[in-house]
Amino acid sequence: MRLLVINIGTIVGIDTHNRHSVAGADMDSMERVENGWLLAEDGVISGFGTMDCCPDVEDAERIDAAGGMLFPSYCDSHTHIVYAGSREQEFLDKIHGLSYEQIAARGGGILNSAERLHNTSEDELYRQAMERIEEIMLMGTGAVEIKSGYGLTTEDELKMLRVIARIKSSTPLAVKATFLGAHAVPKLYKGRQDEYVDLVCREMIPAVAMQSIAEFVDVFCDRGFFTLEQTRRIVECGAKYGLKAKIHANELDFSGGVQLGVELGAMSVDHLESSGTEEIECLRSSRTVATLLPGAALFLGMNYPPARAMVESGVTVALASDYNPGSSPSGNMRFVTSLASMRMRMTPTEALWAATLNGAAAMGLSDKYGSITVGKVANFFITKPLPSFEFFTYAYNTPLIERVVLAGKIVK
Ligand code: NIG
Ligand code: FE
Repeated sequence: MRLLVINIGTIVGIDTHNRHSVAGADMDSMERVENGWLLAEDGVISGFGTMDCCPDVEDAERIDAAGGMLFPSYCDSHTHIVYAGSREQEFLDKIHGLSYEQIAARGGGILNSAERLHNTSEDELYRQAMERIEEIMLMGTGAVEIKSGYGLTTEDELKMLRVIARIKSSTPLAVKATFLGAHAVPKLYKGRQDEYVDLVCREMIPAVAMQSIAEFVDVFCDRGFFTLEQTRRIVECGAKYGLKAKIHANELDFSGGVQLGVELGAMSVDHLESSGTEEIECLRSSRTVATLLPGAALFLGMNYPPARAMVESGVTVALASDYNPGSSPSGNMRFVTSLASMRMRMTPTEALWAATLNGAAAMGLSDKYGSITVGKVANFFITKPLPSFEFFTYAYNTPLIERVVLAGKIVK
């Protein structure tokens, strides 16, 4: 099966060096091809170049890009896209002045979603999640990490992970599953937090591992949620069962979660709204990706993480949507890159690498996803003709995506 794209105005996001990720000054440079073609064979990019040497492929399906720009698909490395219903009532509570933590303390927030999830059938959960999956595919996402964490019982966590597995087998997206049993302490364990951590370690992690139903383990390590000691226990237990760590850290406070994540060799530490020189120092000399979620900072009215200082210090920065019902009800990765430029002073080039190759690295997928590279999965989207590359990030609300190709197949 072959797909030939011709008359591409500019191909961006090219990485001929097959890098694992991009950091420092390299984040602001990007190879491009003007007036190009790209060929996908059996779902993989097999070549690209300029139109003056376009191959003559007879039996290929064709897309005429008509001067539009070709981008590698986004790799959204942090989402909670499997959830039941929505939480706009809390949106109103927020408008009336309550904070995320106050809402959570009243039994809202994650516990509200856990109750809804418990009362929703697996088929219905899958149906709702697939609507969001379709939505993000059409907005340019080609790989996505999805967390459990609205179950908070062994049975309901496994139910969520089965839904993620079903999404994985029924969409052309690359999907990675993360077990986030320690997302909040369920009502039943109120005041007995350590006992809940026991349950996570003794029952949930072994069950998840036995079913090979997740690759990563995550903990909400922050003020009012899980402590450093509890996080360490869970991450170390996950490691024994082959689960690599991704940690929610420093969203609400300087939790020490960044340092702990680096010490434990986490794939990524995520959020990082509360970060200073210590966190940055620690991250720059590690392979742990700093995943920033500006959509959550926007929605909750928090400070944005210090992306500029991170990039300039050589930290590997990724951008993700955090798509979830409580703190980021959107999976629009293009908007995330625009927010990164508007609110965190990342250039459009830096933001694109952060949302593609570095996001792929945060999921352990950058050998196959995250850039236009021969041999990688043919995941890309094509825009209308644009006056410049920067225009795509700048005109953040104008619908510009014309075609979407995932694993070499035309999705839009
Ligand atoms: O990444 N911070 C913790 N978890 C989610 C929010 C989940 C929710 O409110 O439902 C987040 O922001
Ligand atoms: Fe999150």
